[in-house]
Amino acid sequence: MSLKTAGTCSANTPAKPTAGHSNEVLKIPSIIEEFKPEIGIVLGSGLGSFADAGALDVNTVIPYSQIDDLPLSTVPGHKGRFLLGKFAGKRFIVAQGRVHLYEGWSAQEVTSGIRLMATSGIRTLILTNAAGVLNTDMRPGEWMALKDHLNLTGTSPLLGGAQFVDMSVVYDSELRHQFLAAAASCDTIMFEGVYAGVRGPQYETPAEIRMLGILGADAVGMSTVIEAIQARALGLRVTGFSCLTNWAAGLSQEPLSHQEVLVRGAAAAGRFVNVLKTALRNGLD
Ligand code: HPA
Repeated sequence: MSLKTAGTCSANTPAKPTAGHSNEVLKIPSIIEEFKPEIGIVLGSGLGSFADAGALDVNTVIPYSQIDDLPLSTVPGHKGRFLLGKFAGKRFIVAQGRVHLYEGWSAQEVTSGIRLMATSGIRTLILTNAAGVLNTDMRPGEWMALKDHLNLTGTSPLLGGAQFVDMSVVYDSELRHQFLAAAASCDTIMFEGVYAGVRGPQYETPAEIRMLGILGADAVGMSTVIEAIQARALGLRVTGFSCLTNWAAGLSQEPLSHQEVLVRGAAAAGRFVNVLKTALRNGLD
């Protein structure tokens, strides 16, 4: 994978969703390679402000459109760029915006950014997402650290080979506890729970939400599980956080809307930035 040259025709032609499979580890732009990021972060819907909030000392911005073969998101609230920056003595690569299965991309395409970050040398990956909450002990506007997930997307980035990756511990418990301690010291509520990853793009029906509750889910969203599978297959330490943006379908009188997800995500992002900064200052890694 290399940086595109501006001004050529192909530079502005985004890759199109395909059903094909291409999970090779691509060549990464030299600017990322030379930066040698240690920690990767993926920001979900409405959480992009983390990168604008001055938390990171941003060195470089690389729009996804400048990287050959990297899929581009069509979803409002997803910017589509990598940031290279430093905080608390660590080098970060931040994926501001992701692509989703529901846009028509394959699981391999959805995870091409994860493979790029892994190849660039990160050892730790922090995944964030927006999710509907179905556990009534939790509530919208708060955060949930992922203890485990249910992959209900019907697909995997590892399709096409016999990679029998152990998924007994996807979300690193030590990392999670460092974040929980940081959240407590910032007076930020951080629940722990199980995230159900669905394909979307439609939100769930109340009956589906009741089913997910019976299956053990605390929150539901349309991302993260595929990325976490890919990251574990590449040996990364993974931690994940859901910004609980709305009550899941049937739990409130309000119809679900992407606008609500973006507004709640933006409002809660600042608190997560504080937790992240505190965890990093305490020596996360
Ligand atoms: N369902 C699925 N995905 C979501 C939701 C939801 O309620 N909220 C934010 N992403």
